[in-house]
Amino acid sequence: MFPVSRPRRLRSSEKIRDLVSETSLDTKKLIMPVFVDETARKPVPIPSMPGIARQTPDSLAGHLGELDEAGVSSILLFGIPGRKDDKGTSAHQENGVVQESIRIARKETSQIVIADLCMCEYTSHGHCGVLHGEEVDNDSTLESYGKIALSYAKAGVHMVAPSGMMDGQVGFIRETLDGSGYQNVPIMAYSAKYASAMYGPFRNAADSTPSFGDRRAYQMDPRNSREAMLEIAHDLNEGADIIMVKPALPYLDIINKARESFDAPIAAYSVSGEYTMLKMAVDNGYLAPSAIEESITSIFRAGADMVITYFAEYLCEKSRK
Ligand code: PBG
Ligand code: ZN
Repeated sequence: MFPVSRPRRLRSSEKIRDLVSETSLDTKKLIMPVFVDETARKPVPIPSMPGIARQTPDSLAGHLGELDEAGVSSILLFGIPGRKDDKGTSAHQENGVVQESIRIARKETSQIVIADLCMCEYTSHGHCGVLHGEEVDNDSTLESYGKIALSYAKAGVHMVAPSGMMDGQVGFIRETLDGSGYQNVPIMAYSAKYASAMYGPFRNAADSTPSFGDRRAYQMDPRNSREAMLEIAHDLNEGADIIMVKPALPYLDIINKARESFDAPIAAYSVSGEYTMLKMAVDNGYLAPSAIEESITSIFRAGADMVITYFAEYLCEKSRK
């Protein structure tokens, strides 16, 4: 107790503060999302996400080279296909936009190539699975997810990241991959993915807004915390290698609770809305740029082992200077 105890002693210089710091922003633990648009002729800036652009199949290699130079070691691929239909069949084509992007990435860079596995960018209705009436049918959607997983694995993906929030998706994908000799492809499971307004800018980026209704019949209710632990437990039982909490900043309590409850690696997805809020405030001078580091550091402090963030390139670049 004061006056014997004086916490300020360990705050007196940068070096001492570094020495006693409990968390560090390790750039090897950042994952950069990358959008590839099959229909674009040149990279297209995304209006809702300043500083981020959709790449084209031709610009992808160059973009990955830039990310590599900045020190980004992992990417998460999203595709915008040339053709959509009600069953989202372009999601599992051998030469689909993500499959081809995986091949390009594997050939051109040494980055860890993770691919988001969902159907909302590929269905004409924008929902994350196959419809039965106005509802997403869980079990027939799993069949499609299995096909997508297999097509990604064949293209050489390092890791698949199913984000559709169907029940049993991790187990089904694990079985499908194992049945075809891909037992060494890990699954990063979007386990606790909330039905969040924070995905707004992304849907504009990936052209995946549902044409009717919303995703609340499959993504989680933001009011729930214990349910997230159930979802994570199910995914681990089904064979998930890495579990995910998404979004990140408004859900630090969930990340922290997951950290205390599970030993598996935890990824946190700091989503498009989090990016855009910070980016706009910093670009307009309302917030100091250090707000970005502070925010991403808080996600690690809460217990995440890795963070998916649109600031990955910026943060990696910054740490090299
Ligand atoms: C696809 C998917 C979404 C995000 C990641 N994968 C959108 C959604 O569920 O509507 C959101 C990412 C972001 O907002 O940055 N299911
Ligand atoms: Zn989806």
